[in-house]
Amino acid sequence: MSLYEVDHVSRRYGRDGTAGSVLAVDDVSLAVEAGQRLGIVGESGSGKSTLVRMMAALDQPTSGVIRLRDDVVSHRRERDLGALRSSVQLVFQDPRSSLDPRMLVGTIVTEPLRSRLLKSSGDVPTDHRTRLAEVLESVDLPLEIADRFPHELSGGQRQRVAIARALAPRPQVLIADEPVSALDVSVRAQVLNLVRDLVSAHGLTLVMVSHDLTVVRHVCDTVIVMRRGRIEERGPSEQLYEDPQSAYTKELLASIPRFRL
Ligand SMILES: Nc1ncnc2c1ncn2[C@@H]1O[C@H](COP(=O)(O)OP(=O)(O)O)[C@@H](O)[C@H]1O
Ligand SMILES: [Mg+2]
Repeated sequence: MSLYEVDHVSRRYGRDGTAGSVLAVDDVSLAVEAGQRLGIVGESGSGKSTLVRMMAALDQPTSGVIRLRDDVVSHRRERDLGALRSSVQLVFQDPRSSLDPRMLVGTIVTEPLRSRLLKSSGDVPTDHRTRLAEVLESVDLPLEIADRFPHELSGGQRQRVAIARALAPRPQVLIADEPVSALDVSVRAQVLNLVRDLVSAHGLTLVMVSHDLTVVRHVCDTVIVMRRGRIEERGPSEQLYEDPQSAYTKELLASIPRFRL
């Protein structure tokens, strides 16, 4: 059995038939196996973020079902999502907006380890200190950074903090939505290599979104190409990159400078 099963999932924003209504994800089915590194590519607006947000139960499908192992994660109430919330962790595009600017890095990174009740407390408990040191080291950041605020860091350091935070609760699945798109070109490869190394060191399952097939190919073994909410093409990364079948995938490839990483 697959780890994730996305079964005929659609997501419509706005009521069908009304002005501005958008079918962001249109009847998508896919499976993710444990240990797989799945890339999702497509032009801006093709539904990539909507799809992974539903996989992380941050949004609900309009129709269809998402299962994680045997568990239905779509249409669940927040209080029933405890296990999912620690086993699936997310890294977003822009760490400037995804990290709370009022929190110290140490608090940000250990926050997923705390219960909801303790969330407002600023102190980092001792057992969390150990984990904090471990995960900061694993993303190549010095421990001193724990006592800084996000705005005191570079973009690359901030994204490393976001990755450390995601790893802290020892998740099984990492979902990264355009994790290097907001970063300087000079640090993109470093952060991507870090994601790749961490995923393999911890045996994580990865779902990584990018509008850039080069980025996805660098890290993922399998790729899904999305277009207007639907899956246009799927296959092993190398095959898709070397021998794309659909005209749309060929265009995506042609639109990016090759060998940039
Ligand atoms: N919260 C929302 N409300 C209304 N429309 C949305 C919302 N989020 C996304 N959309 C629309 O859904 C479509 C897919 O968006 P998104 O999933 O963000 O695509 P991608 O991540 O591939 O750029 C777009 O047309 C976008 O404008
Ligand atoms: Mg997006």
